[in-house]
Amino acid sequence: MSCFLTNSSLGKKLVMSISGCFLVLFILFHMAMNLTMLFSWEAYNAICEFLGANWYALAGTVLLAAGVAVHFIYAFILTIDNYRARGKQRYAVTVQEKGVSWASKNMLVLGVIVILGLGLHLVHFWSKMQLVEIMGMHNSLVADYNVAPTNGAALMMISFSNPINVVLYLVWFAALWFHLTHGVWSMFQTVGFANDTWYPRLKCLANIVATLIFLGFAVVAVYCYFVSTPQLIESMLA
Ligand code: HEM
Repeated sequence: MSCFLTNSSLGKKLVMSISGCFLVLFILFHMAMNLTMLFSWEAYNAICEFLGANWYALAGTVLLAAGVAVHFIYAFILTIDNYRARGKQRYAVTVQEKGVSWASKNMLVLGVIVILGLGLHLVHFWSKMQLVEIMGMHNSLVADYNVAPTNGAALMMISFSNPINVVLYLVWFAALWFHLTHGVWSMFQTVGFANDTWYPRLKCLANIVATLIFLGFAVVAVYCYFVSTPQLIESMLA
């Protein structure tokens, strides 16, 4: 089994597909969690507290990091395999479809942009929340504000009051959108849904999922940008 997953082309693609599916499920969960912020800051902060430095949240973080690592490492392995197998024509695909073809040719580059964005995002949020709790600290200093590690709503307001962050996040979400339009479709194709009936349906599904994710995250960042004022932030920290 381990030989199949590490040596055969289909096995490696299966690993990409399963780890990708796991990451999409996490992203959907994360998006749903963020959206509660639009309705109640208290409810959002209660979820942040629940998912703080508890054993189950830490286990989830480790599992998630493993999922990202596997997906990333296998992406490089598959890309190297493709280089070896096809030389300069490694990106030649048998079916050229409008819309997905650009994303499908640039999955590795898009994935690297997504990972770089994730790094920045973890510095902005995770390092000010779960990491602060792990280190036994009570507050962290963010743009001159003292923020408690469970006050995710205030941290969002502070982060997205800066237009540079809003633009950087929107670029990140756009890269994620392209990555998912191909990725979600490809995930199903690998496990065998590649016939003529399912091909257009899955492409449509992939576009819907990617667009929902883009809008679900973007609306929160843009909302925070428009409502955040120094007075509001002070009141959320009180
Ligand atoms: C408006 C957009 C987003 C906001 C406001 C947001 C907010 C947050 C917050 C507050 C945390 C810290 C949770 C904690 O440590 O208790 C977090 C962690 C995290 N976020 Fe996001 N997020 C956004 C978009 C994304 C996207 C698009 C991805 C993935 C592509 C992502 C992946 C992660 C990961 C992997 C963690 C660490 C989870 C863990 O510690 O287990 N986030 N995010």
